[in-house]
Amino acid sequence: MFDGVAKRYDLMNDLLSLGQTKNWRKAATAIIKPAAGMKILDLAAGTGASSRPLADAGAEVYPVDFSQGMLDSGRKRHPDLHFTLGDALNIPFKDNEFDVTTISFGLRNTNDVNKALQEALRVTKDGGRLVVVEFSHPTNKIFRTVYMKYLMALLPKISRKLSSNPDAYVYLAESIQAWPTQSELAQKIAVAGWKQTSWKNLTFGIVAIHSAVKVAK
Ligand SMILES: C[S@@+](CC[C@H](N)C(=O)[O-])C[C@H]1O[C@@H](n2cnc3c(N)ncnc32)[C@H](O)[C@@H]1O
Repeated sequence: MFDGVAKRYDLMNDLLSLGQTKNWRKAATAIIKPAAGMKILDLAAGTGASSRPLADAGAEVYPVDFSQGMLDSGRKRHPDLHFTLGDALNIPFKDNEFDVTTISFGLRNTNDVNKALQEALRVTKDGGRLVVVEFSHPTNKIFRTVYMKYLMALLPKISRKLSSNPDAYVYLAESIQAWPTQSELAQKIAVAGWKQTSWKNLTFGIVAIHSAVKVAK
């Protein structure tokens, strides 16, 4: 599915999020605090849009994705980034390698969330952090009702006009609705072995950034 939407992926993100994607990436960067000397794994990195600000801040970034189409678009757009073809459920890196492991708008798409979180834990150093950026659930009841209408009715309609693969956006809407709430995801992160789990809501909870720490056993 991602191979099919790769070419217009970044443009569609900006359009369908009404320009919010940039703010969400800024907020993620502020939490990750990338700096020279930091080694960061960006799982499900797609076209590299989530890796770009981390590399620009001087961190050593490793974007990994299992869609060849997304990687091809990413390599064209960001020739300086070192993309790796790989599965978040079987990460092609050794144990305890990264200061931060992050995944933006990707955890929801993995087939096994617990396995992805455990694999992220394995490759992160002791004292290292997990940062998950993902669609979540607006906290205000009235806003949530309006947003769900946009998601389930308007978004598939708009994408039918704009996207080469409108079904991908029906999937997007359905997968967001079925995704755990902020506290449920925090619980899943803890069950996978991460400690000190917390989250920050963005745009009324349309997106949430979950953070956690790997504590030595
Ligand atoms: C919505 S895109 C997000 C891309 C990027 N992180 C961003 O913020 O723009 C989701 C990506 O997850 C990737 N993906 C889904 N499951 C994966 C897995 N098990 N291993 C690696 N990549 C995966 C897809 O190929 C796709 O590129």
